Amino acid sequence: MPSVITQPVVSKLTRAAIFLVVTVKPEPQCEEAVRALCGDLASLLRAVGFRDLNGALTCVMGVGSDAWDRLFGQPRPAELHPFREIKGEHHAVSTPGDLLFHIRSMRMDLCFELATQIMSRLGDAVTAVDEVHGFKYFDERDLLGFVDGTENPVDQDAVDAVVIGEEDPGFAGGSYVIVQKYLHDVKAWDTVPVEQQERIIGRKKLSDIELDDAAKAPYAHNVLTTIEENGEQLEIVRDNMPFGDVGKGEFGTYFIGYARSPGRIEKMLVNMFVGRPPGNYDRLLDFSKAVTGTLFFVPSATFLANVPAESAVAVSGDGTADASPTPQRPSDGSLGIGSLKGEST
Ligand code: HEM
Repeated sequence: MPSVITQPVVSKLTRAAIFLVVTVKPEPQCEEAVRALCGDLASLLRAVGFRDLNGALTCVMGVGSDAWDRLFGQPRPAELHPFREIKGEHHAVSTPGDLLFHIRSMRMDLCFELATQIMSRLGDAVTAVDEVHGFKYFDERDLLGFVDGTENPVDQDAVDAVVIGEEDPGFAGGSYVIVQKYLHDVKAWDTVPVEQQERIIGRKKLSDIELDDAAKAPYAHNVLTTIEENGEQLEIVRDNMPFGDVGKGEFGTYFIGYARSPGRIEKMLVNMFVGRPPGNYDRLLDFSKAVTGTLFFVPSATFLANVPAESAVAVSGDGTADASPTPQRPSDGSLGIGSLKGEST
């Protein structure tokens, strides 16, 4: 199989990020504007990112289930579906979103400029439904005060966790991503003794050292989010970011999890919201409310580069017009889209 370039899903930790979720308006010209952006995204990124290469600007574009059908038709990624809400001890809501732009950099101004350029390209074709500006908080801590991200897989392990391979050959090099915006009740959390907070997370607050298995509560966050299949741990790659609005008393964590199959993230969510076993739920949720929840497919960079702006209307056997653009992929893989990693063949 010719080489396919992935989007920079696995990228180095950055100091800033923008999470931008938009819906695409129903008119055909709006879909065309999005398709045109797909092919141009790499050059926009190059133009903004080149202004400070140390800024390590990257952008991952994700496409929701309904939007996929509208924009690209068949074939579709095997496991793409709308985010399924979970009603357990707590509620994981499902909220609208056709496109996700996950923009990361060491500098917020680079993120902001790229988001601006993307939105000016899309113009009236889309409606922004959520935009979160995330920042790093001291030593990679969330606003609950715990270091977040420690057990993320790195290097080849990270690539193995997120990049689709043989299981869906037509979409090899792609990935899935789930985002959820959480708002914390920091006042209530601050009344919880630190020892109990540590039992809820499963790690020491100051030192970030993991609690001994014997000392861990069955409901610890790192117990419920550790899942296995056939004796092997199923991993995901997270790049959560704190965000907030002090004046409004808003303190949040933007959860973003990438995986080669959405099923593993969904399993973690069921463990957290319903409990494993049911009732043994994640106490983090007593202090953190999920206010959004959306699932996207992340096509390879090669796929995006080859999306034709105009839908190639073909007439199929039964005489009906088939408006699927059927992008040709993979191509020569010469896309200069920055620090792309995890090349899969
Ligand atoms: C671990 C915070 C939501 C999956 C952790 C850790 C913290 C944390 C502090 C321990 C350090 C680390 O290994 O990163 C949070 C907060 C959340 C949140 C504040 C939102 C309020 C989620 C969600 C999922 C998830 C929704 C998955 C669906 C994981 C996983 C680990 C982890 C897989 C690593 C477990 C291990 O292998 O030890 N999280 N998390 N987290 N979290 Fe979360």
